[in-house]
Amino acid sequence: MIVAPSILSADFGNLKDSIKRVEETKWLHVDVMDGHFVPNISIGPLVVKGLRQYTKQILDTHLMISDPLKYAKEFVLAGSDRITFHIETVKDPIELINVLRDLNVEVGISIKPQTKVAEIVDLLPLIDQVLVMSVEPGFGGQKFMDSALDKIASLNELRKIHNPNLLIVVDGGINETTGKLCKDMGADVLVAGSYVFNSDEPKKRIASLK
Ligand code: DX5
Ligand code: ZN
Repeated sequence: MIVAPSILSADFGNLKDSIKRVEETKWLHVDVMDGHFVPNISIGPLVVKGLRQYTKQILDTHLMISDPLKYAKEFVLAGSDRITFHIETVKDPIELINVLRDLNVEVGISIKPQTKVAEIVDLLPLIDQVLVMSVEPGFGGQKFMDSALDKIASLNELRKIHNPNLLIVVDGGINETTGKLCKDMGADVLVAGSYVFNSDEPKKRIASLK
């Protein structure tokens, strides 16, 4: 299992030390919020650039912003390795996928809890990952929504036909119990914020998810 600690729950007054606490994971999940697509504001490319200097981890950047086409390039230039945008925010997803491909990054599409898998089936062959939101995007520390499990299961079936290399990522309310449910349905990557960072022993939490 790939574990991607979400820095949304890190100590933003001391980000460098916070990410050191989770340095053994391959991925680091970076939540970008614009106060428009979601009712919260987090970070921009400057922080990604800052992080890039202190870690070689894959910066898995989750854009919860209304205009990903306008800002995606800035995040790539700042050092993001993977860019996930929300299908609910774009008129022409293929246009943005092509822009990201030209920038040589891995591409993901995220779906909110109310968005159906059927809406992105045609795009599965064109992308590297689907990020299934298991909470309403915007805040850490929310309760896992079981409705995500059916979506993971159906993506697990769909990828056999459309894209065997597709990664299924789950984000929101992940802990040891919900992580296991996701794994059983076919998830490959667990994003976890509060479970990992709101602990004196983040390494143990990461190990339990792995
Ligand atoms: C929510 C973010 C998540 C968040 C998860 O909008 O996309 O990445 O940090 O936090 P937890 O793991 O606390 O639910
Ligand atoms: Zn996220």
